[in-house]
Amino acid sequence: MRQSSLVVVANRLPIDDSTTPDGACEWRRSPGGLVSALHSPLRQTPATWVGWAGGTGPAPALPDVDGVRMHTVPLTADDLRDHYEGFANATLWPLYHDAVEQPEHHRRWWEAYQRVNQRFAAAAAEVAEPGAVVWVQDYHLQLVPGLLRALRPDLRIGFFLHVAFPPPELFMQLPRRAELLRGMLGADLVGFQRAQAAHNFAQLADRVLGLPATDHRIAVDGRIVRVGSFPVSIDTTEMTALVERPDVADRASRLRRDLGSPEHVILSVDRMDYTKGIEQRLKAYSELIADGHVKVRDTVLVQVAVPSRERVGQYQILRERVEREVGRINGEFGRVGEPAIHYLTQPFDRAELAALYRIADVMAVTPLRDGMNLVAKEYVAARVDDTGALLLSEFAGAAAELPQAYLVNPHDLEGLKQGLLAALRARPEQVRERMQAMRTHLRQHDIHAWARSYLSALDQDSTLLSRLGTT
Ligand code: ADP
Ligand code: G6P
Repeated sequence: MRQSSLVVVANRLPIDDSTTPDGACEWRRSPGGLVSALHSPLRQTPATWVGWAGGTGPAPALPDVDGVRMHTVPLTADDLRDHYEGFANATLWPLYHDAVEQPEHHRRWWEAYQRVNQRFAAAAAEVAEPGAVVWVQDYHLQLVPGLLRALRPDLRIGFFLHVAFPPPELFMQLPRRAELLRGMLGADLVGFQRAQAAHNFAQLADRVLGLPATDHRIAVDGRIVRVGSFPVSIDTTEMTALVERPDVADRASRLRRDLGSPEHVILSVDRMDYTKGIEQRLKAYSELIADGHVKVRDTVLVQVAVPSRERVGQYQILRERVEREVGRINGEFGRVGEPAIHYLTQPFDRAELAALYRIADVMAVTPLRDGMNLVAKEYVAARVDDTGALLLSEFAGAAAELPQAYLVNPHDLEGLKQGLLAALRARPEQVRERMQAMRTHLRQHDIHAWARSYLSALDQDSTLLSRLGTT
């Protein structure tokens, strides 16, 4: 087994086994922000990525992806049901997102979570060279830092949570709260998207485990664990280069024409997830049409909602409700050749997404709760001419960094409608000023700055950084 000096451990590998309608296996980029975030800083580094390739059955042998070695961890059908769909996505995911859907608790799910975390820890232990840095990602693998430390005390272990981390009142509902906290404390550095999340974690370590934090440091079993916030970002250079490509400009012009060359294009791009506030947004939009504030003739909404976690009940219900509502709105307000909403559920390649960002006069990103939301940042990076208004939920992590967006509370329907109208009607100078400020921020806080700041905090002698080429 070849070993690496940097090992990333995430539930998902960057490529996913998506079976085509005719049954053929096809490898595609995996969905979601975690893969978008890690892809660029790891490119062409001597790293190994340990993760699941989608599907069940034996682990496929995968080729390197952009120079990064893939090490596949298999999941059985039971693991998929009880670990991924169960504990990760029907217990932790809803709980961490303000319990906007009811979290479920089943003892069998917890057993699967432990078993799968153990398997990931064993895989990481196998591929990490002596003294390596191992960077564990996200809520599926919170026990891995502790399990890995027991197997390989020589390693430097980091943990980063990509999603929101809840206040103590919510986290305390978890029957196995102490084990989850202990698992994370197996790391040398526990990172979150926001300072508030890091604070919640420190409070919980004290309340549940009696381990108080001093100056963002917690003493555990004779070691010091540091806790901090590291807001994740995007590859702004890559997005800028993409939108400036002539073929992307052509695609954008074609798209705008195909939409009937409207005066305003509003765009939303989400995974089909109840945290994203899709239903609330559709309701606000349909009321604006019904009230006569928005005319379907000159304004179109493009809603991209790529299906996600499709076997989890709450996601199935959401998709049915969204599709019913889109049908109702189009039936009521659309005309032949002029739907009120262009609804797309396909995954797009990066160039197609960039073309969509290019034509969006208003980008509506209104989650009920989101750890960060990279779509909002991608849109800002794509607006190379400083035009375009970003409508952004106060409950997305990105709002703390992009206060010049049109900020809204998505739970407040009237506020959401007013925010959308303000973004649609904003004067060009005002839009430009706001966009310039957001773009300046993002240029300085891109994904390379994120990886650099996390890894330099983790690996204090910084030998790793020079190898990564992120310095
Ligand atoms: P989450 O991680 O919860 O899905 P983010 O907004 O942080 O939310 O990240 C979503 C990522 O997935 C972004 O990089 C976005 O470009 C990508 N994405 C979303 N929808 C699609 C789609 N239909 N096709 C391809 N990529 C998509
Ligand atoms: C979020 C999570 C990621 C996850 C992604 C897609 O970004 O933080 O860990 O990979 O959603 O979800 P999925 O369930 O398809 O992996």
